[in-house]
Amino acid sequence: MSKVVAIDGPAGSGKGTITPIIASRCHLVTIDTGATYRCVALAALNNNLSIDDKDKIIELSGKINIEFDDQGRVYLDGEDVSKRIREKDVTSIVSPISSIVEVRANMVDLQRKMAEGKDVIMEGRDITTVVFPNADYKFYLDASLEERARRRFEQNKEKGIDMSFEEVLDSIQKRDYNDMHKEVGSLMRTEDAIYIDTTNMSIDEVVEQMINIIEGD
Ligand code: DC
Repeated sequence: MSKVVAIDGPAGSGKGTITPIIASRCHLVTIDTGATYRCVALAALNNNLSIDDKDKIIELSGKINIEFDDQGRVYLDGEDVSKRIREKDVTSIVSPISSIVEVRANMVDLQRKMAEGKDVIMEGRDITTVVFPNADYKFYLDASLEERARRRFEQNKEKGIDMSFEEVLDSIQKRDYNDMHKEVGSLMRTEDAIYIDTTNMSIDEVVEQMINIIEGD
């Protein structure tokens, strides 16, 4: 039986940093589900679609090819878009795009297929609730809004993405609201997910706590 570690949490809670570290230490394949929604958003931009072109976005989400390699790079129709999908224009439309129920159905299918027959660590917003509610290990990572914005601001600087701290804070706040108020697949903390507030924790501390749980039995 393959193993599934599911992690949910809001933007900047540490999922994206911690997941690949645990993956490499516990020999799991990483699946960044946010990247799949970001690919749909980028494909929409590439096709000059706006968020109002719902039917066309749904059609596109069923047609595009999304792949990850074992280095965590993301490919949209064969092109490496790992950096492009983190840019401001994609980030600003990804949450409303991920609210489209039919887009979610297509992405959830894809995410489950990506996990088939593998030991995986999957992170996103609805992994513990919708994609793998029966995962072997379920975590919900959280942190204060200011700390999450600070982390994302620093990450953006490293990646050469030009956004002020206020822009990042505003963008995260809007996405939090959107991500928690979806018709389907809203970000939710369930009782059976282990809750970790990472606000005052180092990356190492979070990793150790999670690995103790994953490897503790
Ligand atoms: O984790 P991220 O910031 O790359 O995710 C981008 C967006 O995709 C996020 O605002 C919400 C959405 N998302 C989702 O709806 N469900 C997931 N499982 C993962 C991400």
